[in-house]
Amino acid sequence: MTLPNELVFGGVRPVRGRLRLPGDKSISHRALLFAALATGRSSIGNLATGDDVHATRAALHALGVGVRTSGQTVTVRGTGVDGWREPEMVLDCGNSGTTMRVLSGALAGRPFLSILTGDGSLRQRPMRRVAEPLRVMGAHVDGRDDGSYAPLVIRGGALHGARHELPVPSAQVKSALVLAGLQADGATEILSPAASRDHTERMLAALGVPVVVDGACVRVERGAPGPFELEVPGDPSSAAFFVVAACITPGSDLVIESLALNPTRLGFVDVLRRMGADIEAHVTEVRCGEPVGELRVRHTGLHATTMAGDEIANVQDEVPALAVAAAFADGVTEVRDAAELAVKETNRIGALYSELSELGLAVEARGDGLVIRGGRPHAALLKSHGDHRVAMAAAVAANAIDGESTVRGWRAVSSSYPEFAQDFARVTGAS
Ligand code: S3P
Repeated sequence: MTLPNELVFGGVRPVRGRLRLPGDKSISHRALLFAALATGRSSIGNLATGDDVHATRAALHALGVGVRTSGQTVTVRGTGVDGWREPEMVLDCGNSGTTMRVLSGALAGRPFLSILTGDGSLRQRPMRRVAEPLRVMGAHVDGRDDGSYAPLVIRGGALHGARHELPVPSAQVKSALVLAGLQADGATEILSPAASRDHTERMLAALGVPVVVDGACVRVERGAPGPFELEVPGDPSSAAFFVVAACITPGSDLVIESLALNPTRLGFVDVLRRMGADIEAHVTEVRCGEPVGELRVRHTGLHATTMAGDEIANVQDEVPALAVAAAFADGVTEVRDAAELAVKETNRIGALYSELSELGLAVEARGDGLVIRGGRPHAALLKSHGDHRVAMAAAVAANAIDGESTVRGWRAVSSSYPEFAQDFARVTGAS
C-alpha cells in the first residue's frame, strides 16, 4: 500500500460503530516463528499487515521456510528448526525490534552464520540486552560496539541452558531466550524484574511445549511446538488509538470486535479507567492460549493520573495514545519510570514532548518520562518522528480539535497499521 507522506485530520468527529482490527503484531510475529519451528503445515488468518511482520516473514523465507499467502490465509510449511538453512543474504529486519531480537534467539541455536540488520532507527536500538545472554548460552553473537548495535552477526551452534536475570522487563529478550532455550541442553530460566507481555509463554504452552511460568520466572527445556491453525485476534495496541479517540471525542460510542484481550496488553484500559473512561471488555473465547473478545468504549470527560513502576512495562507501546488522553484530561498527568521510551522506534519522550508542545500544551520531558498538563490543544502541524505510534497518536489528537491539523511523516504507520487512516475515517465518518 502506498501511503502519503502527509495527511490532514480535523474537526471534532465522534468515533462510532463496530470495528475489527488487523491481527496483533506481537502474536503475528510469534505465529510465523512458531509455525517455522514446528514440523508440518500451519495456517494463520488475519496476520498483521504492517512491514514489521512482513520482515519476519521475509527472514523466514530466506532461511528456507515455505510461507505462502492464499486469500486471507498465510500457510507455513514448517520443517522444524533443523530444516532452516544458512541465509545467502543479510536478513533485513527493517524497523522491527521484535524481528531482530526474537529471531536472534532462534538463530543462536543454528549451526550457521546469520547477519541481521535494520533501518537507521533499528540500528540505533540496544541489542546487547539480547547478545549478552545468548553468548552466555554458547552462541557467538557480535555487532557494532561489541554487540551493542546491529548489524548483528550470529554464528549459532550447540547451546546450553542458563539462568538469566534480565535487567529490564522485555518481552522480546525473554522470547529470544525461550527460543534459544528450546534448542539448548538443560533448562533455561528467565527471571524478569516486572511482568512483560506473555504471548510466547501462552502460545507455546497451547502448542504443546512445556513452558513453566512461576511468577516472574519462565523455564523451558529442549522442545518444539506442533503445527496449528490460528485466526490472529485484533491488535490491542492499535485499538488503543481508537479507544483514546472515543474517550476524548464527544458523542463517541465504539465497539471493537475479535480483539486480543491478553491482560499483559490491557494496561492502557486500566489507566484510562482510572482517568474516568467508560470501557467494557468481555472475553468470549481463547485462541492458542490468548483471550479474545470485545471492547466497548463511550465518551466521558477524563482526569489526570500517574503511570509509574511495574505498570509501565505493560503500557509502554500505548504511552503515545495515553499522552493524547492526558492532553485532553483535567489536571497534570505524570509518566515515570519509563526510560525505555527513549529507545523505542524513536525517542518517544522527546517526540511526545515536541508534538504535545506544538498542540499548545504545557509539557515537561524528563529522563524517565513526561509531565503533561491537560488543557485545550489547538490545531497544528505535527510530525511522526518516523514512529508509527506517534503518527497515529497525532491523528487521534487532531480528530478531537476544531480545525485541521497535518501529520507529516505519515508513512511511518506502515510498520504496524498501514490501513489506519481508512479504518479511522470509517468510524469517524470522515471517508
Ligand atoms: C514486543 C515487546 C515490547 C513492545 C514491542 C513488541 C514483543 O518490547 O514494546 O512493541 O512483541 O515482544 P519489549 O521487548 O521492550 O518488552
